[in-house]
Amino acid sequence: MLDLAQRIVFCALLGSVYASCPPRCECSEAAHTVKCVSRDLRSIPTGIPGYTRNLFITGNQISRIGPESFKGLDNVTNLSLSNNRISEVESYTFAGLRSLRSLDLSNNQLAVIHPQAFTVQNQSLRELNLSRALYNHSSVMDLATSLRWSSLGTLRGLDLSDNSLIYLPSRIFCHLSSLQRLQLSNNSLVAIHNSTFSGLENLQELDLTLNALKTVPEEGLRELDTLPGTALLLGENPFTCKCGIEPFALWLNRSQGRIRDAEGLMCAFPASMRNVSMLAVGTLTLGCHQRNAGADLALQTSYVFLGIVLGFVGLIFLFVLYLNRKGIKKRIYDMRDACREVWEGYHYRFEIDSGPRLSQVSSGGDM
Ligand SMILES: *[C@@H]1O[C@H](CO)[C@@H](O)[C@H](O)[C@H]1NC(C)=O
Ligand SMILES: *[C@@H]1O[C@H](CO)[C@@H](O)[C@H](O)[C@H]1NC(C)=O
Ligand SMILES: *[C@@H]1O[C@H](CO)[C@@H](O)[C@H](O)[C@H]1NC(C)=O
Ligand SMILES: *[C@@H]1O[C@H](CO)[C@@H](O)[C@H](O)[C@H]1NC(C)=O
Ligand SMILES: *[C@@H]1O[C@H](CO)[C@@H](O)[C@H](O)[C@H]1NC(C)=O
Ligand SMILES: *[C@@H]1O[C@H](CO)[C@@H](O)[C@H](O)[C@H]1NC(C)=O
Ligand SMILES: *[C@@H]1O[C@H](CO)[C@@H](O)[C@H](O)[C@H]1NC(C)=O
Ligand SMILES: *[C@@H]1O[C@H](CO)[C@@H](O)[C@H](O)[C@H]1NC(C)=O
Ligand SMILES: *[C@@H]1O[C@H](CO)[C@@H](O)[C@H](O)[C@H]1NC(C)=O
Repeated sequence: MLDLAQRIVFCALLGSVYASCPPRCECSEAAHTVKCVSRDLRSIPTGIPGYTRNLFITGNQISRIGPESFKGLDNVTNLSLSNNRISEVESYTFAGLRSLRSLDLSNNQLAVIHPQAFTVQNQSLRELNLSRALYNHSSVMDLATSLRWSSLGTLRGLDLSDNSLIYLPSRIFCHLSSLQRLQLSNNSLVAIHNSTFSGLENLQELDLTLNALKTVPEEGLRELDTLPGTALLLGENPFTCKCGIEPFALWLNRSQGRIRDAEGLMCAFPASMRNVSMLAVGTLTLGCHQRNAGADLALQTSYVFLGIVLGFVGLIFLFVLYLNRKGIKKRIYDMRDACREVWEGYHYRFEIDSGPRLSQVSSGGDM
């Protein structure tokens, strides 16, 4: 009896030593999970057990993380650091997490992201959540550099939603050749440019809802056509249905098959077009062609009018000539007489001048 009790106590002690858990954290060895949630932590706690696969250190006050923060955590596959105050991520911070597949940095204030911030040994990272993680739009250049330098060739999902991004640097995603899902919803993107999405050869889903797109001009449509296998979400943008939007409307109608929310896309402006389906915005509803035809007609009428005015001016000129015909005739005769006098005078001088010269020539010939 006593033996059994001793053995139980011993086991419990051994268990508690083996399953040591950092203060202010909850550890579950059976679930391979450690949670340190909303505990006012200022840094990553030490002593996180090696069995940990799911590590949640969320809702704390952590502001800086670096390579020394995660030592001996070979088994961590899911790491969430969301809802902290992380403002800087150093290069190789996560490099030692050789099994890391999912990294959640959402709801932070990243202002400085070093070039190799997301490098993970063994290229095991599959999911990166940076939703509402950037301090402001200025961080996007750091982000672009780190997406290029962090060897993320095997990343499948990237969440950049809720970040106030105004534009995306050219070729920002060009090293993410395995990416399948890209969330860009709830930003302030106003345009899609050449090469914005280049390199995304395997993209299956692109979410552009809740941005600031008023239309998508030809350049953007060409760019989206470089992703033929990608399903698109475009809802909740302030589409402005006036002349000039027809190429986009026609493209939407043509690409309906891969635009998941095509049926729900509505004009937001002008007020008269609000809630009109973008698919119904043809040339007829906007009446742009009629207006162009009208413009052509106006141009033609103005040419005709110009012709008439010129003709009228010509007629008046001829009429004036006709009225003055006597005076003109007299002037012409005067001029003719004057010419004749000049001509005769010249002729006369020529004859006088030529006399001696002729005699000179004849005398020269005699010699
Ligand atoms: C990771 O898990 C394996 C198997 O569960 C275990 O053998 C190994 O010791 C763990 N790694 C660490 C650093 O504890
Ligand atoms: C771990 O991350 C994967 C995605 O990589 C996800 O499917 C899984 O549900 C996550 N597990 C936990 C416990 O969060
Ligand atoms: C690489 O990652 C996989 C899991 O993604 C793991 O099974 C493997 O052991 C890792 N290799 C090394 C060398 O750490
Ligand atoms: C990223 O994190 C946010 C907030 O924590 C969450 O709502 C969103 O679903 C996550 N994204 C993915 C792809 O899991
Ligand atoms: C972003 O924040 C930094 C640091 O406060 C500031 O210098 C920069 O002007 C801000 N950029 C924008 C676009 O607001
Ligand atoms: C969009 O993002 C902002 C923060 O950037 C957030 O306050 C707002 O709630 C988000 N809106 C939606 C609909 O998610
Ligand atoms: C966009 O790409 C096309 C070729 O795909 C090129 O002809 C054009 O000059 C580019 N435009 C800009 C603004 O870079
Ligand atoms: C447009 O639709 C929304 C919701 O579907 C509705 O609240 C709004 O009154 C509508 N506006 C107009 C002008 O019809
Ligand atoms: C949209 O496409 C369909 C064929 O898919 C066509 O019948 C319809 O007229 C088009 N609508 C407009 C407004 O061009």
